[in-house]
Amino acid sequence: MSLLKRIAIVPGSFDPVTIGHMDIIKRAAEIFDEVIVLVVINSDKQPSFTTPERVDMIKRCIDTNNLDTVHVDYYEGLLVDYAKQSEACAVVKGLRAVSDFEYEFQMALINKELCPNLETVFLSTSPENLYLSSSVVKQIASFGGDISRFVQNEIRDEIIARLISTKRISSPK
Ligand code: PNS
Repeated sequence: MSLLKRIAIVPGSFDPVTIGHMDIIKRAAEIFDEVIVLVVINSDKQPSFTTPERVDMIKRCIDTNNLDTVHVDYYEGLLVDYAKQSEACAVVKGLRAVSDFEYEFQMALINKELCPNLETVFLSTSPENLYLSSSVVKQIASFGGDISRFVQNEIRDEIIARLISTKRISSPK
């Protein structure tokens, strides 16, 4: 048996981290020796939370779940470059529906082209999180809805405070 640690990266925008993300992170931690939750830039998205805020929210969620083999980091470059530096052997992504597949499959193929040793492992979402996304959470929070089933308790109030104040600023009179 190999003595090398098998390190996986769970990359994403995590804007903010949801219980759907946490489910994938916990399941990745069952499979790999070490998991790095990596906040990276998605050039198609304009985040609502800063990178340090997103990293901090993930850290708090990980601590509550006592996930000792899971760490958080951020990176402003290509995922494959971080993977090479950290000697990760895999990228883990959650798949919710067919709509996720096209984008995720393209990313997996590009990353494989750029870094042939790096595998992408897809975990199917748990059925209860099928509809869940960070954008849905942000939309509910911005209208004062209840997001307690969708994000961990320790970050709920911070998300609500931020999104309600953003909405007030941007709402026409
Ligand atoms: O949570 P998301 O936004 O769906 O995650 C997508 C993400 C951030 C993982 C993806 O955009 C990404 O890997 N960004 C880093 C830059 C990169 O390596 N892009 C792939 C080659 S185009």
